[in-house]
Amino acid sequence: MVLIRVLGSAAGGGFPQWNCGCLNCQGVREGTIRAVARTQESVSVSADGKTWFLLNASPEIRQHIEGFPPLHPRKPRDSPLEGILLTNGDLDHCLGLLSLRESYPLVLYATERVRRGFTEGNVLYRTLERFPEQVTWRTLKLGREEEMTAGGRPSGLSIEAVAVPGKRALHLEGLVTPDPEDNVGFRIRESATGRALAYFSAVGAVTPSVCQALEGADCVFFDGTFWSSDELPALGVGTKRAEDMAHVPVGGEKGSLALLAGVGAPRRIYIHLNNTNPLLREDSPERARVETCGWEVAYDGMEIAL
Ligand code: MLT
Ligand code: MN
Ligand code: ZN
Repeated sequence: MVLIRVLGSAAGGGFPQWNCGCLNCQGVREGTIRAVARTQESVSVSADGKTWFLLNASPEIRQHIEGFPPLHPRKPRDSPLEGILLTNGDLDHCLGLLSLRESYPLVLYATERVRRGFTEGNVLYRTLERFPEQVTWRTLKLGREEEMTAGGRPSGLSIEAVAVPGKRALHLEGLVTPDPEDNVGFRIRESATGRALAYFSAVGAVTPSVCQALEGADCVFFDGTFWSSDELPALGVGTKRAEDMAHVPVGGEKGSLALLAGVGAPRRIYIHLNNTNPLLREDSPERARVETCGWEVAYDGMEIAL
């Protein structure tokens, strides 16, 4: 069985965001809209309920671990966390790593590009280099399935990184040239049952290879950052369109809801929701629309068993 627990379901900034007074953020603070607060994206996955993997390390990682008892230590120095997988180098996905600096070995799965983006020229990374093997990097090669191990033994899960349209992390813009390894989605498969989770929380465009990567999955998590392309400019809280930020919007003729209509996974879930997204409001027409199409909207604490 593949056990999935959503620890954080919001995009960078979370919901509400500290410097945002938009309708959603103010409404959730004041309790005047039907919506719940969300932390920044991270999901934990396990085949046995005992050893766990994190998909992305959110700035709220401490709260995520404390809030989910299966991730608590079982003896004085311990963690059931056997590995952390990174989809890209965005700070909402990596900053949590620096909070895990209390002298415990970590296993990180990422492409070579994402590893270099986080480690090179980053003096703070030295906090994870205080003893040999504090961090073991497991390099993900595009399209190659890797076994995920727990204590050196098979964990029952394997992972394949799939390149998807995306972008470099904001803080690397101008420093490195774009590369297909900058942004990936994951296909995570349970060896015993063949059950598959497709995890694509940052997708800049729905391409044939994206559709192919979702095929045959029992559960799909997909980029739900923005409902519309002009969501930020329309609210006066930004100038960039969704596509400029490498997030395909959910709504509209060219949105993911329309373009992924053929996806057959029994569970289809939008995650990485920006605080401006009307999908956050449980009584919005946009929310009704996705639910009519068989999609769900992730929330912190959501659990799924495949
Ligand atoms: C994104 O998802 O586009 C990034 O998290 C943006 C950022 O790094 O602030
Ligand atoms: Mn993000
Ligand atoms: Zn807001």
